[in-house]
This record gives sequence, C-alpha cells and structure tokens, in this order.
Amino acid sequence: MERIRVKLKKTEDKSYEIIIGEDILKKIPQFLKKEKSAYVYVIITDSNVTSLYGQELLKVFKNSGLNSHLIAFHAGEAHKSRDTKAWIEDEMSKLKIGRDSCIIALGGGVVGDMAGFVAATYNRGLPCIQAPTTLVSSVDSSIGGKTGVDTPYGKNLIGTFYQPWRVYIDVSTLRTLHEKEIREGLAEIIKYSVIKDEKLFEYLEKNIEHVFSFTTKVLIHIIRRCCEIKGEVVELDEKESNLRKILNFGHTIGHAIENASNYTISHGEAISIGMVIEGEIGVELGFWNKLEFKKLLALLKRARLPVKLHKPLDITRIIDTMKLDKKARRGKIEVVLPKKIGEMAQVNGSYGIRIEEELIRRVLKL
Ligand SMILES: NC(=O)c1ccc[n+]([C@@H]2O[C@H](COP(=O)([O-])OP(=O)(O)OC[C@H]3O[C@@H](n4cnc5c(N)ncnc54)[C@H](O)[C@@H]3O)[C@@H](O)[C@H]2O)c1
Ligand SMILES: [Zn+2]
Repeated sequence: MERIRVKLKKTEDKSYEIIIGEDILKKIPQFLKKEKSAYVYVIITDSNVTSLYGQELLKVFKNSGLNSHLIAFHAGEAHKSRDTKAWIEDEMSKLKIGRDSCIIALGGGVVGDMAGFVAATYNRGLPCIQAPTTLVSSVDSSIGGKTGVDTPYGKNLIGTFYQPWRVYIDVSTLRTLHEKEIREGLAEIIKYSVIKDEKLFEYLEKNIEHVFSFTTKVLIHIIRRCCEIKGEVVELDEKESNLRKILNFGHTIGHAIENASNYTISHGEAISIGMVIEGEIGVELGFWNKLEFKKLLALLKRARLPVKLHKPLDITRIIDTMKLDKKARRGKIEVVLPKKIGEMAQVNGSYGIRIEEELIRRVLKL
C-alpha cells in the first residue's frame, strides 16, 4: 500500500471592505476602474430591483466603458432555487462569461444568496461584489459569506461559504422599500444590539422612528454598527463553531415558527417572537433579568414587530422543527440566551445552551 499526503495549508486572505454611503451605487464603476480589472461585469438582480436600480446601474457601467451585462430573475423567495441558479448559469454561458469576470449581486437577500452561490461555483469561482438594496441584506446577508438556495425540503439547504470581494451599501436605495421590509431589517438590527452592543440598543431606543423616515445619518450609523458586529463575529468564527452562534438569537425558535406557520409569518416577525420567547427562557433560567427583557419587548413593539403569536400554531410541529434544525445537536434543542443587553450567556465556554423541550412548551403557552 502506498500513501501520499496532499498538503493544503490555507493561507489565503479573504478580508474585504464594506463601503456604506449615500448615492454610491453610481460611483461603483469609478471605484472598480481604480482597483479591480475584470474583463466583464455581470450584474445579477431580481425583477423588481432591475427597474428600480438595475437598468440604471448597467447604463452607468456601460457609460464608464466597462464591458457589462445584466441578468434579472423573478423576485421572491420561491425563486431562490436550484432551477434559477441553473438558468442564470446558462445565461452566463450564452454570454460567454469566463474566469476574468466579476459578479455584482444587486438586490435583497434572495439576490445576494443566489448571485453569491453562482459566483462561488461558476468556472470554479468568480469574484463577487455584494450591493445590497434591502435593510436585511445591508445588515445581514451581504456580510458573512453564507450563500445558497432553497429546496422543497427546506430553506438554504444547498450552499457554500463564499466571501464577497467587496460590499457597497447605498442607503439611498432603501427609500423605495415598503414598511414591511423596514420592519424585517429592524428585527435583525435589534438582535445585533442585544447580542453585542448595549449602546446600539440605546441608540435604537432614541432613533427608531428615524429608520421609518429614512434619515440618512441614522441609517448609516445603524448599518455601520451592524456590519461591524457581524464582521467581528464572522472574523473570529467563520464556520460557526461557537461565537457565530450568537447571531442565531431568536432564530432557533423563529425558524420553527416560520415553518409551522407555513411561512405566513415572515422571517422578521418570527424572529421577533423568537427573541421574546428565547428572552423569556433566559429569564426563566436565571441568565437574564426581567427589567431588560421588558426593554426588549418595548423596542420590538416600537419597531412595529409582533411580540407574540396572534394565531395558535401546532407546538409539537414547532418543537419537531427545532429538533431537525441544522444547529440542533442529536435531537437536543440548542439556543443562545442573553445575559444582559449587549452580551450573551455562556455555559462551560459555549454559547449554545441546551434546553429542555418542556420549558419551550411552557413558555410558548404563556
Ligand atoms: N446569507 C445570509 O447570511 C443571509 C442572512 C439573512 C437572510 N438571508 C436570506 O435573505 C433573504 C431575505 O432577504 P430580503 O429580506 O432582502 O428579501 P428579498 O431579497 O426577497 O427582498 C424583499 C423584496 O424587496 C424587493 N426589493 C429589494 N430591494 C428593494 C428596494 N430597494 N426597493 C424596493 N423593493 C426592493 C425585492 O425584489 C423583494 O420583493 C432570504 O432568502 C434569507 O434566507 C441570508
Ligand atoms: Zn435572520
């Protein structure tokens, strides 16, 4: 028997910059001309964003003398699928897109996850620029490198970690969002403040109404802090072995609520309720104090988010979904719980805390 060892020590630097500002979308070609020389740029977007910003961005690229194309797929989570990925890849092949190209993911989280995944596998990987246009994608999906698609068996089941080359966040694009999309983003923003930043929590208490009125200064401040927090967490634990789990606050129960409602409850609404339930569990187990928990409740309400289920859901289905969660450990339910606003609790050095099914049932009934 012969044995050969293929040594692969990764030394690659995958660092990237996040640029946040007003009206920066149209400046992207200028930035690229200075520092990135791809032969072709492919803007991938969805059917809503294409008319709002996509066509315009393509024009700016072309006017700047950059060889560029735009591919738009149907908007909506239902199209974050393997079929759409294959369709985009075929469109790119028809355009003879080669390895010297760069993808620009222009849109919300659906576009970011889809275009990021295409970038990760097309020609074994093309650089990808994330240009988020929703609050959720600005503070969450465009950073951290998780890309992927849904299958009939579940959300985000197929995907890979693939870090962007650069992230451009143009807060001006947020002005066309519906209130519902603002609330979705606020649920994630409040989560960041609870897990890592008491000052951000206080800033939100003072300024949350300015988010609904799109005050640029406030948006930039909040988005910047959330990107810093997600960046710091991902930097320390890219593949979610411990610290990155704190980003799941509200999500273990939230995902199960989304699922049990057959997705009639949105992600942001579900994680808002999830943060309340997980927060309450934190209080019950003595990790967190009731006074701070009440502050969280008040802030979620001001963000126009639900804090409890308005229609009864099948609790057994919620529990079963939690046991099937990618993050569940051998059928045991693991959550992350606050210790105080700005810091999560740890048990034996681990942020993932196993809890009994009975406790969840009890709190869900409250
Ligand atoms: N990769 C990650 O780490 C990560 C994190 C969080 C969420 N996600 C994924 O992100 C997705 C949710 O993201 P989302 O909430 O941005 O959804 P989305 O991409 O579906 O966007 C929501 C809606 O807003 C429209 N839209 C986008 N930008 C707009 C604008 N500026 N003005 C008006 N309308 C606009 C879209 O066309 C869509 O109809 C989910 O698929 C989720 O799984 C991924
Ligand atoms: Zn989320």
